[in-house]
Amino acid sequence: MTEDLEQIAQEYKVVVRDLMKVYRRGATEVIALRGIDFEVSEGEFLSIIGPSGSGKTTLLRMIGALDRPTAGTVLFDGHNIALLDDYHAMLYRRQKVGFVWQTGNLVPDLTALKNVMLPMRLAGAPKKAAEKRAMMLLERVGLKLRINHRPHQLSGGENQRVAICVALANKPDLLLADEITGELDTETADVVMQMLKEMNVEFNTTIINVTHNPHVTEYAGRVLRIRDGLIEGQRHVLYGDISEIDAKGRLVIPETVRRLANIQKRVVLSVTPEGLLIKPLDEGSADVPEAPAEETADA
Ligand SMILES: Nc1ncnc2c1ncn2[C@@H]1O[C@H](COP(=O)(O)OP(=O)(O)OP(=O)(O)O)[C@@H](O)[C@H]1O
Ligand SMILES: [Mg+2]
Repeated sequence: MTEDLEQIAQEYKVVVRDLMKVYRRGATEVIALRGIDFEVSEGEFLSIIGPSGSGKTTLLRMIGALDRPTAGTVLFDGHNIALLDDYHAMLYRRQKVGFVWQTGNLVPDLTALKNVMLPMRLAGAPKKAAEKRAMMLLERVGLKLRINHRPHQLSGGENQRVAICVALANKPDLLLADEITGELDTETADVVMQMLKEMNVEFNTTIINVTHNPHVTEYAGRVLRIRDGLIEGQRHVLYGDISEIDAKGRLVIPETVRRLANIQKRVVLSVTPEGLLIKPLDEGSADVPEAPAEETADA
């Protein structure tokens, strides 16, 4: 590893460098990835958007060690995933990564609860502990009353929420989501993406979500565009609503923004070179000023 890359590896959860994937079928060759470069910070919610065939699934499979790149590097916590042998790749997938796909995430014969318990049981968790965590996760995504339903007894959106719980069961550092709202209507897709965002904030899980639907990228903090196996560009997502400040200095923070930023009743304000930073105030934290922030919410 060059010194430069070593430095970068220390700063980021995931580093992708010069990643190439060529599929060979007899005499035909498909170059799916042509030299991809990007980094993902710990706790970041990154979306990758691109048209069909641009290499999104291929890229996720390389990052998730489901397949090996033809050339290039994927670093996870500084370790080169591409160099793992089959056994260590399996351990990496089981312990560090959660996957959610467009469909087919769940075992049809198992209830929602049993589906979420399964990865924990496979990783050796005792039954009671697995059940407790599965209940917590399902409750968290609003499925408390559906835990004993099987996938065919649940709606598409409910199934995807269960799938998110399955992916989060073993507390992965990284969640890879491939077009998970592809089969859902816009409203249900919003609910599922909102859940994903909340899990990202609550558990600090790093998320890479790929899609071809621009609407879905609104939940991410940053969006990369991929085309023909190359990264074309990126943008940071800004919550564009312009809020006015009244004569008393009160600011209205829209409900969606409050939810995404995990802001509840109290916040800490600090002035930074980029502007005013509004951070949620953790009730238990001692090193914050006691004076409560003014109630500014409009709801
Ligand atoms: N196993 C494979 N063998 C041969 N070619 C493949 C294989 N998997 C993918 N490809 C090709 O690689 C390119 C990228 O495919 P990929 O599945 O990564 O695209 P994608 O961006 O996920 O598309 P979509 O939005 O339709 O899911 C495509 O041209 C595809 O045909
Ligand atoms: Mg795909």
